[in-house]
Amino acid sequence: MRGCEGATANLAPVKIGVLGGTGPAGRAMAARLASGGFDVVIGSRSRYRAMEERDRLLDRWAERGLSIDSADNEGAAGADVVVIATPWDAAASTAASVSRQLRGKVVISMANALAKVGHEFQPLVPPRGSVAASVQAAVPKSLVSAAFHHVPAKELGDLNAPVESDVLICSDHPSATETTVEIVRKLPDMRPLDAGELSNAAPIEAFAAVLLQLNVRYKTRAAVKFTGIEE
Ligand SMILES: NC(=O)c1ccc[n+]([C@@H]2O[C@H](COP(=O)([O-])OP(=O)(O)OC[C@H]3O[C@@H](n4cnc5c(N)ncnc54)[C@H](OP(=O)(O)O)[C@@H]3O)[C@@H](O)[C@H]2O)c1
Repeated sequence: MRGCEGATANLAPVKIGVLGGTGPAGRAMAARLASGGFDVVIGSRSRYRAMEERDRLLDRWAERGLSIDSADNEGAAGADVVVIATPWDAAASTAASVSRQLRGKVVISMANALAKVGHEFQPLVPPRGSVAASVQAAVPKSLVSAAFHHVPAKELGDLNAPVESDVLICSDHPSATETTVEIVRKLPDMRPLDAGELSNAAPIEAFAAVLLQLNVRYKTRAAVKFTGIEE
């Protein structure tokens, strides 16, 4: 699969759509991406919910002049690059529902398949081993990358502080990795790391359960930062 490139993958993305953009992760991504200079479209199954979320974000960050629009998921999938921020078990079906709009585009999957059992977070094994791989299978004409799994939504959505974090990125398409790296580079204090092919999405997604467990144990919001890699 690595090497099968689409039409828009090497263009600098201008507009980024966020499917499931009304949840904590999606709205945080929308705000942070807009603060990085991107035009963002919040998507939802309901364009009214998307509109409400957009208005809330524009209100909250009124002084920043963010470029955030809203649409249903189909409209948001019309953007240059599309982030999938739905619950894990809806990611592939959501992508499939807008496959025509996603054709040839970079699609970033940030979903983690997890279950909370009692006080414990446990990783689940989705079809094809990872959510990102199941999204790639659902939209084979798109260039799926996996990224942003370990960035806590609350911190991501607070534009008053940068999020100091590495962002592990993997994909079977080098240009999708490149595009995702370029997007992360626009976000202060985040460092993009190329973590290889999409098969690595499985441990990357599963590790989110460890982070959540650490958050509970140490009453914090941990992010990931690797040592030993030159800046
Ligand atoms: N929260 C974090 O800190 C964080 C960090 C990194 C990654 N993630 C990952 O990001 C994803 C989103 O997290 P979240 O906490 O924002 O999730 P969420 O609130 O449960 O869901 C996000 C949005 O997805 C849409 N949605 C819900 N069920 C759906 C379905 N069955 N089909 C299609 N769309 C559906 C909803 O939007 P509409 O109803 O408006 O369509 C909802 O607002 C998750 O996979 C999570 O693992 C989360």
